[in-house]
Amino acid sequence: MCNEGFTLWFTGLSGSGKTTIAKIVEAELRARGLRVERLDGDIVRQSLTRDLGFSKEDRDKNIERVTFVAKLLSRNGVAVIASFISPYRAARARARAETTNFIEVYVKCPIEVCIERDVKGLYAKALAGEIKGFTGIDDPYEEPENPELTIETDKESPEESAARVLAYLEERGLIPVKEAQH
Ligand code: ADX
Repeated sequence: MCNEGFTLWFTGLSGSGKTTIAKIVEAELRARGLRVERLDGDIVRQSLTRDLGFSKEDRDKNIERVTFVAKLLSRNGVAVIASFISPYRAARARARAETTNFIEVYVKCPIEVCIERDVKGLYAKALAGEIKGFTGIDDPYEEPENPELTIETDKESPEESAARVLAYLEERGLIPVKEAQH
């Protein structure tokens, strides 16, 4: 069997749950026999885009390079899972235009909840003024206008969110349907 590739694109604030959901989806897609590549801001920024910071120009370059990689992979049948804040609509629109079967997943979470979670301790620093230009604090996040899916991570568990993503991919015929377990 040879699946069509796709680009599953998670966008949302830092700490909204992008990586957590992406990892669950990744494991499930592998279990269903797909070839998967997960591209994540925290990892990609240590290699391919390690020269970049968080100005608008640098964020745009970050997303532009990742888009290029996602384009090459998705057109060759790979299931690409990208998780980046990707705060600018125009950059996401370019990713949509260039990649195969682009699916935008808005990982929506109130900033207050992200601040509360503060998994990496970065919100505390941003609120103290130690980090400037932090998304949602003193840097913009442009909400998706027409995402294929919106996931509200303050209202559902990561497993529930991942299940909704998988159901959507099944509906689109992009992944094999899991056989019912008896
Ligand atoms: S993006 O804006 O270019 O899409 P990306 O997803 O790659 O961002 O990286 C975001 C991660 O970088 C955050 O989860 C956080 O750990 C870290 N980070 C460091 N500085 C900032 C900042 N100023 N704004 C947002 N995230 C930052």
